Amino acid sequence: MNKVKKAIIPAAGLGTRFLPITKAVPKPMLSVLDKPTIQYITEELSEIGIEEIVIVVSPDCEVIRKHFGKAESLEERLLQDGKQKLYEIALETRKFNVKFAVQKQANGLAGAILCAEEFVKEEPFVLLLGDELLYAEKGEKPCVKRLVEIFEQTGKSVIATMEVFGDDVSKYGNIGISSEEDGVMQVSRIVEKPSITEALSNNAIIGRYVLSGKVMGMLKNLKPRNNEIYLTDALDELASNGELLASCFEGARYDVGDKLGYIKANVEFALKSKEIGEETKEFIKDLASRL
Ligand code: G1P
Repeated sequence: MNKVKKAIIPAAGLGTRFLPITKAVPKPMLSVLDKPTIQYITEELSEIGIEEIVIVVSPDCEVIRKHFGKAESLEERLLQDGKQKLYEIALETRKFNVKFAVQKQANGLAGAILCAEEFVKEEPFVLLLGDELLYAEKGEKPCVKRLVEIFEQTGKSVIATMEVFGDDVSKYGNIGISSEEDGVMQVSRIVEKPSITEALSNNAIIGRYVLSGKVMGMLKNLKPRNNEIYLTDALDELASNGELLASCFEGARYDVGDKLGYIKANVEFALKSKEIGEETKEFIKDLASRL
């Protein structure tokens, strides 16, 4: 009954931190190595068998739709030229069962989630924020898989967290914890981007959530603050009713919504690449020796 089958990926942000590229290219289409960041996010879902995905896009966002659709002339050409491997790469994004919802107003994360209401109805859903790429090494359990397991065992909404220190505390949603068992934390409160003195703990919310279907209803009923409704308000309500859990993610995480994080992701993914990993390593060593 509690099976998680659906996922929402908000992708309608303005991407102002990456201007001028984001004038014409939506931020989720910025590439880390050879794939746009949004493709890594959908792969995170398909790896664990979640195939019903809705991407929330802005009204003029044809490029993302195109990326997940058929590229007729390119595909024909690759086949004609006998370039089977490249043909398969071009086909990869078509295997995701992606639907699109349009966010007409830039009214925040909760606004984006509400655009997917028709798709989710009253079912639980995974929420993945595209500014973060998570990387599970071989043998490590992917973050979303862990969250889905916790949700399916307990029926409670669950969020991923990581430990942060110093000024970083104020960059994220922050949780208070009332108890912890087998790595699963019971969340008592949430504050969004607190000052260091207001922080409840060193546990910051990262962009992966599994939320029960009732969250959609809660968002609809929330009172706006500064003309915006906040997901954090719904999460805080769940927390105070004892209905919110958290799990600390310990794998690699890249903040690709930030210029430095984006460069780090590109460098590390290049180092991991079979095709150019060795050469990248040599290049970095040489570069470092000259710095
Ligand atoms: C959002 C959430 C915040 C969370 C963060 C993770 O903030 O509101 O609680 O810690 O994502 O990246 P944003 O980065 O959209 O400002």
